[in-house]
Amino acid sequence: MNRKPQGLVVQNPSVCFSAETLEEGADYVNAAVRTVDQPEASPAPKVRGLPALAACWLSLLLIMALRIYFTSVMSDNNMRLTAENLQLKEQNQNLTAENLQLKEQNQDLETEKKNLTEQILNMETKWTELNVTRAQWSIDNYCPKGNNGRQCRPCQDEWLNFQSSCFEVYDVAASHLKTWEEARENCSGNNSDLAAAVNEADREFIISHSWNSWNDPSIKGYWIGLRVEGGQWKWINGSDLINSSWVDAPTNGSCAVSDDNQPRWKSANCSDRNRWICGKKAITV
Ligand SMILES: *[C@@H]1O[C@H](CO)[C@@H](O)[C@H](O)[C@H]1NC(C)=O
Ligand SMILES: *[C@@H]1O[C@H](CO)[C@@H](O)[C@H](O)[C@H]1NC(C)=O
Ligand SMILES: *[C@@H]1O[C@H](CO)[C@@H](O)[C@H](O)[C@H]1NC(C)=O
Ligand SMILES: *[C@@H]1O[C@H](CO)[C@@H](O)[C@H](O)[C@H]1NC(C)=O
Ligand SMILES: *[C@@H]1O[C@H](CO)[C@@H](O)[C@H](O)[C@H]1NC(C)=O
Ligand SMILES: *[C@@H]1O[C@H](CO)[C@@H](O)[C@H](O)[C@H]1NC(C)=O
Ligand SMILES: *[C@@H]1O[C@H](CO)[C@@H](O)[C@H](O)[C@H]1NC(C)=O
Ligand SMILES: *[C@@H]1O[C@H](CO)[C@@H](O)[C@H](O)[C@H]1NC(C)=O
Ligand SMILES: *[C@@H]1O[C@H](CO)[C@@H](O)[C@H](O)[C@H]1NC(C)=O
Repeated sequence: MNRKPQGLVVQNPSVCFSAETLEEGADYVNAAVRTVDQPEASPAPKVRGLPALAACWLSLLLIMALRIYFTSVMSDNNMRLTAENLQLKEQNQNLTAENLQLKEQNQDLETEKKNLTEQILNMETKWTELNVTRAQWSIDNYCPKGNNGRQCRPCQDEWLNFQSSCFEVYDVAASHLKTWEEARENCSGNNSDLAAAVNEADREFIISHSWNSWNDPSIKGYWIGLRVEGGQWKWINGSDLINSSWVDAPTNGSCAVSDDNQPRWKSANCSDRNRWICGKKAITV
């Protein structure tokens, strides 16, 4: 009567209802019969069946636990991925928006570039016109028309040429005297600056033209392009005066005056009113 219920195995593949367990169940039913002629033929089936069942339940529990565990892990993962996905979507949106913005900026820059290119062209045109105007001005001022056509000279009309410089002496009446700053502005109005000497000969030329023929005591001399800056005599171009014996110490003020009665330049208060001498480079003809 020891039949193997193979059908059951097929119908229920679960480990817990495997053929062996059922077979052992059958043995247990037949146990009483067997004890008569076959004592101790097999160990107590009850004892053998219980651990198997427990193992069975344990593995079932294990499987369920694992399933629950993996399900939760996977749903965690899923949630994480969904969140990441959302974030990426937002980033994508942001980048798209940024892209649009950059495109707009690019367009603006292109427009601005066009605008600037045109402005540069306009300015170049203006500059060319200005150059031509200047060239005309220079020719008219340095090469005036004479009886024998144009004659070019190193200095403009009314200006004195000495070596590589042009000087204009403003021996004005007492009512037209100027402060050092005013005198400088007057020179710049005639495309020049207060006079400076590049060498000893220049210095002597400036002194010899600092006339005070009326001996007017209110006129201390002629302003030149020399004044004290940072406790040091400096030319208007910012260079230090090299030969310190050309001028006295700045005891009476911070600006230098030239006077043909004195061998050296003197210091005077820059707010004083004096005559002045303008200077600029001569052109080579
Ligand atoms: C998207 O832009 C908004 C505002 O500009 C900002 O608050 C958010 O953090 C950005 N998101 C990402 C993912 O960069
Ligand atoms: C372009 O240049 C003109 C002047 O030439 C100016 O009025 C205008 O505002 C400029 N446009 C831009 C977008 O810069
Ligand atoms: C204008 O003149 C200067 C020299 O003074 C020259 O270097 C420049 O190229 C000229 N510019 C134009 C546009 O002719
Ligand atoms: C400089 O001063 C002189 C004399 O006062 C005057 O005739 C001349 O117009 C002035 N020049 C300028 C550019 O102010
Ligand atoms: C200085 O400029 C004034 C006004 O522009 C002019 O009348 C005068 O002739 C100029 N003087 C010299 C020496 O260039
Ligand atoms: C500044 O001017 C002085 C006097 O004219 C001259 O000696 C010197 O070389 C000039 N310096 C520069 C840097 O041009
Ligand atoms: C300085 O100037 C004086 C005249 O004022 C001249 O005698 C002397 O040789 C000059 N010194 C130098 C080093 O050029
Ligand atoms: C300073 O000014 C006074 C009065 O005008 C004059 O007597 C004196 O010689 C001047 N000193 C110098 C170093 O220029
Ligand atoms: C220069 O003169 C003015 C008045 O003309 C005066 O207020 C000032 O104190 C004087 N400066 C010096 C250094 O003497």
